[in-house]
Amino acid sequence: DIIRTFQIVWLTKNMFFFLLSSVPDDLTPEEQKELENIRRRKQELLEDIQEFLNKNHYCPCRKNMQRNKQVAMGRKKFNMDPKKGIQFLIENDLLKNTSEDIARFLYKGEGLNKTAIGDYLGERDDFNIQVLHAFVELHEFTDLNLVQALRQFLWSFRLPGEAQKIDRMMEAFAQRYCQCNPGVFQSTDTCYILSFAIIMLNTSLHNPNVKDKPTVERFISMNRGINDGGDLPEELLRNLYESIKNEPFKIPEDDGNDLTHTFFNPDREGWLLKLGGRVKTWKRRWFILTDNCLYYFEYTTDKEPRGIIPLENLSIREVEDKKPNCFELFIPDNKDQVIKACKTEADGRVVEGNHTFYRISAPTVEEKDEWMNSIKAAISRDPFYEMLAARKKKVSSMKRH
Ligand SMILES: *[C@@H]1O[C@H](CO)[C@@H](O)[C@H](O)[C@H]1NC(C)=O
Ligand SMILES: *[C@@H]1O[C@H](CO)[C@@H](O)[C@H](O)[C@H]1NC(C)=O
Ligand SMILES: *[C@@H]1O[C@H](CO)[C@@H](O)[C@H](O)[C@H]1NC(C)=O
Ligand SMILES: *[C@@H]1O[C@H](CO)[C@@H](O)[C@H](O)[C@H]1NC(C)=O
Ligand SMILES: *[C@@H]1O[C@H](CO)[C@@H](O)[C@H](O)[C@H]1NC(C)=O
Repeated sequence: DIIRTFQIVWLTKNMFFFLLSSVPDDLTPEEQKELENIRRRKQELLEDIQEFLNKNHYCPCRKNMQRNKQVAMGRKKFNMDPKKGIQFLIENDLLKNTSEDIARFLYKGEGLNKTAIGDYLGERDDFNIQVLHAFVELHEFTDLNLVQALRQFLWSFRLPGEAQKIDRMMEAFAQRYCQCNPGVFQSTDTCYILSFAIIMLNTSLHNPNVKDKPTVERFISMNRGINDGGDLPEELLRNLYESIKNEPFKIPEDDGNDLTHTFFNPDREGWLLKLGGRVKTWKRRWFILTDNCLYYFEYTTDKEPRGIIPLENLSIREVEDKKPNCFELFIPDNKDQVIKACKTEADGRVVEGNHTFYRISAPTVEEKDEWMNSIKAAISRDPFYEMLAARKKKVSSMKRH
């Protein structure tokens, strides 16, 4: 009621100002007198208003303050539980329930935690997917190269960890990029794949744990054939490479686990002891874990491995043995089946392995733990890697017309 009264008074006051500001010059004496009257009444009214305001402690910005307070509360709720925060804002008429309005709110991002934004945009329900698309549409990528566009995009929220979510978001990104920059790539798949190549390049070049820094030539050759069967212009790839080399990608809430960590398994190598399949003797072998396989060599300098153990469908467990720090690779729920693997005989023939389990001993407890963790990570099916591989297959099999 106070507010309503105030609004009426406020309006009346403004009408006075309006009347007084448009007084003609040629007033008759009677009109002059009347005008004086109005001015006096205006003054009285203003005093009344002032008194009224003082009495009610009314501050004209109060309503705004109330609103700001609620918006702040909405943001806080959003940061704790994005869905609840959005619901609160909608229910309090602070936000319209349309994908565009919500997207704009997230894009502005004021006071919002970028991890929470990523969580909301990553939800798989239809409405959230609409918001994601509206959000991506707010990004302007015209005339930006792919690295610049990725910098902008990846800074606007924190990409969540799950493969499906990353896939959806990066697909939306690639679509938007191609829409803003027609003609740069043959297809959105090409843009998608190159985006990941760039994110991985960022890690390879800037993560101190990665010893092997790829050269620009390697980057170019790694991206052969991804433009629907054809190659991308070398100059484009060189520019992207230089840009990443000069300045790493920044991502919000960077916790040191960069994105690559989410979807690529770490490689490892080192000396381990391996128990023979037929003849139960321990042999020292140089093991390399890569591409979801465990390779072992007699010497670190050997070109050909003595054996290859694909890790698909295997499990790993710790075991007790006379040797210390042992673990074992085995087929779950199957005691007698021989693990699919191969090895090279002394005479050079490659034969199938004859192991129902592989028992391995590490030099120290720490190394045992590290190997077990790395192998576990490699064994756990990597859906993201598979999605990317499927797209690569698709674009490289396409013929450019
Ligand atoms: C907003 O709209 C969507 C669908 O249009 C609906 O599912 C959702 O419940 C609405 N949210 C609120 C808080 O009204
Ligand atoms: C954002 O949320 C994440 C996850 O809840 C949290 O780890 C992080 O510290 C938050 N960031 C800020 C700036 O509050
Ligand atoms: C790029 O690399 C830096 C250094 O390793 C890392 O902090 C950052 O998160 C990486 N960015 C992305 C998008 O992975
Ligand atoms: C792993 O299991 C799947 C499903 O049982 C099978 O199709 C595949 O051939 C197996 N792979 C290996 C290497 O044994
Ligand atoms: C594998 O080992 C079993 C005994 O553990 C033996 O009977 C079998 O002949 C071996 N197979 C090959 C191909 O060496």
